[in-house]
Amino acid sequence: MMNTPLRIGICGLGTVGQAVVRLLREEGDTLARRAPRPLEISALGMRAPKPGFDPGTLPVHTDVLAVARDPAVDVVVELMGGTDDAKTLVELALAEGKAVVTANKALLSEHGDALFAAATAKGVPLAFEAAVAGGIPIIKALREGLAGNRIEWLAGIINGTSNFILTEMASAGRAFEDVLKEAQALGYAEADPTFDVEGIDAAHKLSLLASMAFGVPIASAKVFSEGLARVTPEDFRYAEAFGYRIKPLALARRRDAGLELRVHPALVPADALFAQVNGVQNAVMVGGHAVGPTLYVGAGAGGDATASAVVADLMDLARSTLGAMPPLAYRAEAQGSAPALPSAAFQAPAYLRILAEDAPGVLAQVATLISAQGINIEALMQKAQDSVAVDGITYVPIVLLTRTAEEAAIDRAIAALESLPAVRGSVLRLRVESFGA
Ligand code: HSE
Repeated sequence: MMNTPLRIGICGLGTVGQAVVRLLREEGDTLARRAPRPLEISALGMRAPKPGFDPGTLPVHTDVLAVARDPAVDVVVELMGGTDDAKTLVELALAEGKAVVTANKALLSEHGDALFAAATAKGVPLAFEAAVAGGIPIIKALREGLAGNRIEWLAGIINGTSNFILTEMASAGRAFEDVLKEAQALGYAEADPTFDVEGIDAAHKLSLLASMAFGVPIASAKVFSEGLARVTPEDFRYAEAFGYRIKPLALARRRDAGLELRVHPALVPADALFAQVNGVQNAVMVGGHAVGPTLYVGAGAGGDATASAVVADLMDLARSTLGAMPPLAYRAEAQGSAPALPSAAFQAPAYLRILAEDAPGVLAQVATLISAQGINIEALMQKAQDSVAVDGITYVPIVLLTRTAEEAAIDRAIAALESLPAVRGSVLRLRVESFGA
């Protein structure tokens, strides 16, 4: 005899929602054999018909809140995005005692602590595998596979759109805007793509990972983020000449003084694992005290990859393997409100590109200002063929790598360099990270 189905209400039928419906329709019989209860879509929540999407005989609610109230729904899948209506829906679903599955990293990053508290109070799971790194089961890895570990650090490429853009700019020399349009057409980008290119989406995801990894409330996992906009085609060339690639990196590291949480484009050694992760692929490395470094790689965005993660959560619910625990509860050594460190306290080597007058003594001035901050230069490059003439003055980029330095010292060096009469415009700083090298 077949057990009662897990009845699913899906709200939001965009790229991911449609892919979830497709996966459940196509694989329903197989999935039913893998779990004690079959997965059954019992309602859809969509305000208006979606061109090209046929709901068939499935009941459709044009008021998505009706899905949360529908007695024929056991679990509400929130795939609408945004933080307003989605919050109302998730709060209502939890208040109704229904389990919730969401892919909404912005919602959880902003309101997660309260939503997980509400879920715990009701004793229902709030599952979010699809919210971080698309199809990669990184939440499951932190929650289950690495449950025996103290997590020391994690680093990742966790925004597919940014990785796609940087990969295409580096390999095909394509223009930023052109690649972004393609990422949107492929369904990788957020509704507001500035979330992708300014590091906001990756910061949302990193706050969730940091909460799980270090046992801190999501609200205290404040992530520093910097976007891709200032990276130019010449930076890929210089990075390559130094033996590096430029990747959109997210990093969380436990230090004695607090947590270092940052998202920014970074130079990674060309032979590092992260340097081989291209296009929409994501990768996360997690360092556990017992297991050492571990690596997870896969498609980080797109309908089918994200649907894979949504269905994984649904299967966990069907198998009753998900409890109602908030992310921070997964690390018993919870650090309470361990402070997120300000960027001035970060420690990393830096890549600096300085457009300076091509004249005797200028390089010496630049080196003097950098050494005055106690910063050691690792490598330096200046190519006459890259010089430009402005108002009759010839300028040439001085590009250098420093050894590891505190970011406050780098900030002071940059300010001093920018006030040199021989330096034109602002200095570009990228950080260098060698995880997995
Ligand atoms: N816009 C996101 C990305 C989707 O590009 O990674 C997956 O969260």
